[in-house]
Amino acid sequence: MRLAGQVAIVTGAAQGIGKAIAEAYAAEGARVAVLDLNLEAAAAVAESVGGIAVRCDIGDLEGLKGVFDEVVEKLGVPNHLVNCAGICTTVPLEQEDFSNWTKTFQINVHGSFFLSQLCAERMKELGGGTILNMASMSSFLPKKEQAAYGASKAAIVSMTRSCALVWAPDNIRVNALAPGLIRTPMMEGNFNRRAAMQGISFEEALQPMLDQIPLGKVGTPEEVAKTALFFASDESSYITGQTLEVCGGILMR
Ligand SMILES: NC(=O)c1ccc[n+]([C@@H]2O[C@H](COP(=O)([O-])OP(=O)(O)OC[C@H]3O[C@@H](n4cnc5c(N)ncnc54)[C@H](O)[C@@H]3O)[C@@H](O)[C@H]2O)c1
Repeated sequence: MRLAGQVAIVTGAAQGIGKAIAEAYAAEGARVAVLDLNLEAAAAVAESVGGIAVRCDIGDLEGLKGVFDEVVEKLGVPNHLVNCAGICTTVPLEQEDFSNWTKTFQINVHGSFFLSQLCAERMKELGGGTILNMASMSSFLPKKEQAAYGASKAAIVSMTRSCALVWAPDNIRVNALAPGLIRTPMMEGNFNRRAAMQGISFEEALQPMLDQIPLGKVGTPEEVAKTALFFASDESSYITGQTLEVCGGILMR
């Protein structure tokens, strides 16, 4: 058990990639705090992994301290934080408005940063810890209809490196994952919307992207979770400030 006796916070863990990470960490012995906007679904995940569910809107920066204190009170100071909660909207670039742009950054970037700050402060008492941020292949690719999302995910790569630099002396390792196309409710929603906009089927909307993936398939949340586990475990003890592409090779092009 690589995380026996340790505590982990996973945000956005009610479904998709966050859920798979919560399950993977729990299977290695961690007690997991399942944070999500959707408390009912978070509670189901928490029950199945033997952890706790806490309702959290990661974009409500004022509320983060209360959420964090609740986790510490119930489970103890976290050894690991996974900032997985995120949103992705599909809007033609020229129609982006203030509301969509700022909300995307509030949730994807600001919430992750300020929760990291709260965690790092207490991880120092433990002699270290790990923080894992969720970037994306969109951190590196231009986006015609997801510009706010892509910009927010690019910011996460930079934020990861700055946090890694500042907290390295405290043995807090900060890394990020850049998943490609992973089959989750978010991904399915995106392609269903794209299909509806173009009057084509889900499979037809997906095919052009699939054609660009050297490994030729959509990834699974479990494949992302395996790499998250690597960054939480001692196997990555000499790695910090990295963003690992988990994308079937699409970013090689
Ligand atoms: N699925 C992909 O192909 C893919 C690719 C690259 C990156 N990612 C990133 O991985 C992460 C997880 O993606 P997913 O596909 O599992 O998404 P998902 O939409 O299936 O799940 C996201 C979870 O986050 C929660 N959430 C949303 N807003 C929140 C908020 N304000 N506060 C707290 N929780 C909130 C949702 O309730 C949901 O449970 C995201 O950061 C996403 O950008 C996903």
